[in-house]
Amino acid sequence: MVESRAEVDTHHLNKSSSEKDPSMDHDAGKPPDCRSGNVPDARSKRRRGRAWSAGAGVLVLLLAGTGLWIAYHWRRPDPTPGTETARRNGPEDPRLTYAGQFMNIHPDVAYVGDEKCVDCHLEKSLSFRQHPMGRSLLPIARIAARQRYDAEAHNPFEALGTQFLVERQGERVVHRQIGRDENGQSVYESDSPVDYVLGSGTRGYSYLTDRDGYVFQSPVSWFSQQQIWDKSPGFSSEGRTGRPVPGLCLSCHANQVRSIEGSINRYEKPLFNGYAIGCERCHGPGSRHVKDPGHKDPATGADYSIVNSHHLKPELRAAVCEQCHITGEARVPHRGRGLFDFRPGLPLEAFCSIYVRETDPDEPQKAVSHVEQMNLSRCFLRSEERPAEGKRKLGCTSCHDPHQHVGTEERVAYYRQRCLECHQEKGCNLPETTRRLTVKDDSCIDCHMPRYPPSDIAHTAATNHRVVRHSGKDAPTGIARPKREPGLVSFYREREDPKDKEVERDLGIALLHMLVQNSSHGKAPPAGTERRAIELLEAALRNDPEDMQAGEARAEALALLNRQGEALAAYEAVLAKAPHREASLMGAAMLAQSQQQQEAALAYWRRAVEENPWQPFYRASLAQMLADHKAWEEARPQCEAWLRLDPGRIEARVLWVRCLLKTGDKAEARAEFAKIERLRPPNLPLLQARFTVELRER
Ligand code: HEC
Ligand code: HEC
Ligand code: HEC
Ligand code: HEC
Ligand code: HEC
Ligand code: HEC
Ligand code: HEC
Repeated sequence: MVESRAEVDTHHLNKSSSEKDPSMDHDAGKPPDCRSGNVPDARSKRRRGRAWSAGAGVLVLLLAGTGLWIAYHWRRPDPTPGTETARRNGPEDPRLTYAGQFMNIHPDVAYVGDEKCVDCHLEKSLSFRQHPMGRSLLPIARIAARQRYDAEAHNPFEALGTQFLVERQGERVVHRQIGRDENGQSVYESDSPVDYVLGSGTRGYSYLTDRDGYVFQSPVSWFSQQQIWDKSPGFSSEGRTGRPVPGLCLSCHANQVRSIEGSINRYEKPLFNGYAIGCERCHGPGSRHVKDPGHKDPATGADYSIVNSHHLKPELRAAVCEQCHITGEARVPHRGRGLFDFRPGLPLEAFCSIYVRETDPDEPQKAVSHVEQMNLSRCFLRSEERPAEGKRKLGCTSCHDPHQHVGTEERVAYYRQRCLECHQEKGCNLPETTRRLTVKDDSCIDCHMPRYPPSDIAHTAATNHRVVRHSGKDAPTGIARPKREPGLVSFYREREDPKDKEVERDLGIALLHMLVQNSSHGKAPPAGTERRAIELLEAALRNDPEDMQAGEARAEALALLNRQGEALAAYEAVLAKAPHREASLMGAAMLAQSQQQQEAALAYWRRAVEENPWQPFYRASLAQMLADHKAWEEARPQCEAWLRLDPGRIEARVLWVRCLLKTGDKAEARAEFAKIERLRPPNLPLLQARFTVELRER
């Protein structure tokens, strides 16, 4: 199914089924709050429709305010793999040029799904289902009955200016928002059905809602440690209606999805092809193997019809896990490549660039992912692959069997065994008796891989993977890295040519992400970064004018430099070729609006709403603009839709009252205004002063 996608794509230029979303970035290591930022004046600026006039970065601030900037900037939709562009002049598909022994690399070898593997690998299948990766994403019905919904579990709870209630209805679950008045009577209630649970529950559960193919993360999460329901980490009131979930998230958390090109969070139906991460993500497509398994190469012991990473060399072995275990600052699929193109057995850097923060040798604790941390450990740096002696370079699988969940009882013995594989002879130089004084079960990992204090920040290691000599501090490793770009380095820099056009293009996109992130945190970017990004992106566009990601990134960079006219033209150039690109529509709408191109702005907002009817920000912008133009008949349904999406939004209620007044529904307007009064927003006196006359019965 995945294999045939490229074929499908060529028939639908702009609305094709495909993966996308190279702008994969991560918030690793940042306190959640800085991501969706508290930007108090964002909305008032939007209301005045002068977003850009306040200078560069306002777009970012606005988006930060709406909780949308993550989707917009960090997980911006990107062009499809397998579009005509990619076929015509994209770089070679590494799956086609592969000349090694594995027979399931070629895109023609199909995925068959986990059910097929069960027949012959029952034990592995059962044990993998116990592992958190085998439970990374499930339909809600599978866990609904096992969760708590009582008051002791903090249900309902107040957050984001509303009350949330989690309610189970048999196998279904809804997340309800309730606005209450002084007496506790409900003013509004709005149910959001929950369709999927993301996360195995190790740290917690997040919840996904599938709104007709558009996927959103709920503002409500379950926190396993405290055993409570609460607001999802990093959500601000702007995320009350849920955050768009782009393909990038699902490429690491689910088995397979097919993003719709150009959209931020919309997918082909059925949404999932396998819910949790499946066997074939680590072993490659199985159609070849299931037909004719068990032919072992006598020399290597490998069955080349499927990939067992045991038979791969260290970098390729590592790539299988790096697929998902380094989130980095930016992940940029190469031009023409999609999120699910990677095949185990191939190098990951043939498919995407991963940018990480430069590791400061004096502050290695900044490396947040398991992979980066492990790669700084002495065990990694000093171990070597010497197959003849049965020695292997340290890798994730030196300590983890991905099919086996290690429970709390076994962990000490289990990991000790792993350490001793290499430390039998040259072991701990602290005598065992001394060790047992402080750690009575002599747990190697308690001293050398201590846990960090608990945190809700996803995508950072909870256990120190640097394998430190002394617990309590991160021993500096002293390996200085060359500075290529301030702040950002390619994780695979040692294996790539910095002058390669594709590498430069990816860097341009990654720098743009960094700029956006800096800007949304109010940090000045390193001098010259915008210009450098624009230079790289312009070179990329000269190389391939159809490169939509580069085009869109360039537009964003220009917008950040406050070169509004050029930025708008850049978005328009993208939209001329890819009229459904949601992020470009939004960018163009905001720029047109701030440049007083009212008709153009209205048209872009209308298209944005059409592209994603579930995004309250588009509805809000369109409704407000229409109201500014006194186009009340058209504003009314847009405002109504906005209010339906976000009933806790006072601005939406105020505009709704105005719409009702202007379209002659005074009684209804009065009733609606009464609701605002019952909700007691802080600016109520002002609103009352403004509306009393208009609402008065004559
Ligand atoms: C018809 C039976 C059958 C089915 C179905 C099957 N396998 Fe196998 N598989 C085998 C046999 C037989 C071997 C060789 C085992 C041995 O000799 O130890 C094998 C070996 C493997 C190996 C090890 C290869 C190596 O080189 O060490 C992996 C990995 C594997 N299978 C994964 C899968 C996955 C993933 C699926 C589902 C997509 C699957 N198998 C479906 C029969 C099957
Ligand atoms: C397709 C993406 C993907 C790939 C490939 C992948 N992982 Fe994971 N891994 C995840 C996700 C997502 C989680 C978190 C699951 C959860 O708890 O919800 C995870 C969790 C884990 C955990 C934590 C288990 C626990 O007890 O909490 C370990 C260990 C792990 N992976 C090891 C590996 C190793 C080793 C590899 C390579 C052989 C690998 N992973 C490949 C996505 C992946
Ligand atoms: C997260 C990655 C990952 C997933 C998912 C995964 N495996 Fe594996 N599998 C591995 C790795 C890594 C090895 C090699 C371990 C080693 O180094 O010996 C392996 C080895 C195997 C082997 C051969 C070695 C043996 O012990 O027989 C089989 C068979 C196998 N896996 C089957 C499966 C099946 C079936 C599934 C799905 C139910 C699955 N695997 C899911 C990573 C994974
Ligand atoms: C030297 C051994 C070792 C190596 C190598 C190793 N891990 Fe771990 N890992 C551990 C230990 C120990 C834990 C904590 C287990 C526990 O507390 O039950 C852990 C925990 C984890 C967890 C759960 C979250 C956390 O931080 O506690 C993930 C995910 C994980 N490892 C991924 C990886 C990945 C990916 C790699 C390869 C880049 C890797 N590990 C390499 C030993 C190792
Ligand atoms: C793949 C082999 C391998 C595994 C598995 C492994 N190590 Fe190591 N480790 C090494 C090598 C090689 C060195 C470097 C020895 C040297 O410098 O002579 C090392 C060094 C160390 C050091 C010294 C670090 C320093 O900064 O001085 C500690 C502590 C250590 N290992 C602990 C562990 C623990 C604990 C485990 C299990 C959780 C483990 N190792 C697993 C290979 C391994
Ligand atoms: C009570 C804490 C503690 C426990 C438990 C512990 N270690 Fe250590 N280990 C240390 C300390 C402290 C050092 C550094 C001693 C020094 O600097 O001289 C050390 C040093 C080491 C070294 C570096 C040796 C060298 O010559 O440089 C290795 C390897 C190591 N430990 C492995 C292990 C393994 C494997 C286990 C489990 C069997 C283990 N340790 C259990 C505290 C511990
Ligand atoms: C590059 C792969 C990757 C991407 C992209 C990714 N994640 Fe993760 N995520 C992981 C892995 C691996 C873990 C578990 C181990 C860890 O924390 O590193 C995880 C953990 C989580 C957790 C905590 C779950 C738990 O039980 O610990 C949540 C929540 C989460 N991710 C949500 C998201 C969302 C939402 C997105 C998109 C905005 C996203 N992730 C994007 C790989 C990824």
